[in-house]
Amino acid sequence: MMKSKVLELLINSDGYISGSKIASELNVTRAAVWKHIKSLRETGYDIKSFSSKGYKLVNYSKAFNKYELELLIKKLGLDLRVFHFDTIDSTNTYAKNIDGENALIVANEQTNGRGRLGREWSSKKGRGVYFSLMLRLELPPHIVGMITQISAVALREAISDTAMIKWPNDIFIGDKKIAGILTELVTEIDVVEKMIIGIGLNINEVSDYKDIATSIVEEKIEFNHLDFFSKFLSRFFDLLNTFVELRNLAFIRGEIEKYSYFMNKEVYITRSDKEYIFRGITDYGNAILESTNGELEEVFFGEMSLKRR
Ligand code: BTN
Repeated sequence: MMKSKVLELLINSDGYISGSKIASELNVTRAAVWKHIKSLRETGYDIKSFSSKGYKLVNYSKAFNKYELELLIKKLGLDLRVFHFDTIDSTNTYAKNIDGENALIVANEQTNGRGRLGREWSSKKGRGVYFSLMLRLELPPHIVGMITQISAVALREAISDTAMIKWPNDIFIGDKKIAGILTELVTEIDVVEKMIIGIGLNINEVSDYKDIATSIVEEKIEFNHLDFFSKFLSRFFDLLNTFVELRNLAFIRGEIEKYSYFMNKEVYITRSDKEYIFRGITDYGNAILESTNGELEEVFFGEMSLKRR
């Protein structure tokens, strides 16, 4: 924490800032300041020092790290703890096992990244963004699916305007998946103790799934980790606040439908032969499907695919 405070002072000072000024602002010794500067340099920050003038940050770290995330979260005014790992089994698993208040868990690599329906989520270093939000919401379980759809709205916007939401919560560009969401719960009888929203975004080509997956690099999307987190987190928590008051998706339904990958297209539900036309979603996030005889049905959950001709 102290290290990120030193970094904050460096970022906010126009020119040089003296070691004694940093020390007095943070109420630590000059030796401690020096230790933090050294450690920031090791992380990749280019900090110049002149004995007469003090320190100056000349270059931001290219490496995306915990300190930058903490500063961002502070800037956004969010109450979120940050956990950052170079490597971890799964950020969702970690999120399930920690106590305390809301948290953001980010990893450069996962050794056991998990997708929906028990699938594996390929999580090699540098190939994607892998993170989980652990939220203490004290809401009833049936609300949770709607929050997952809110996260899909924020995720779509943070990725690219060309991205679409494949109901309920995959993000597609063209006919390929660029990001996925795995929501998990720790529940007591009728209340959700913890909600975990795990997100995986492909940055570089996912070679094993080339025909069904795409990535930031393949789509030539301009991308910066901090901008992405800034857009995603600010939008998500904005929407979440409104949602917690209203408890339905009416306020964002238009947006979800506008960017729905399935909208007015012929779809089928996997493992069923029935065909439908996707007509939108209800205020509670269920899919509205029109069957071939013109009747409307609501679907609460299911893997859905476009009908191929
Ligand atoms: C899916 O589309 O199947 C959901 C993929 C979710 C992957 C993310 S990566 C971060 C978090 N940790 C995991 O183990 N899974 C999610």
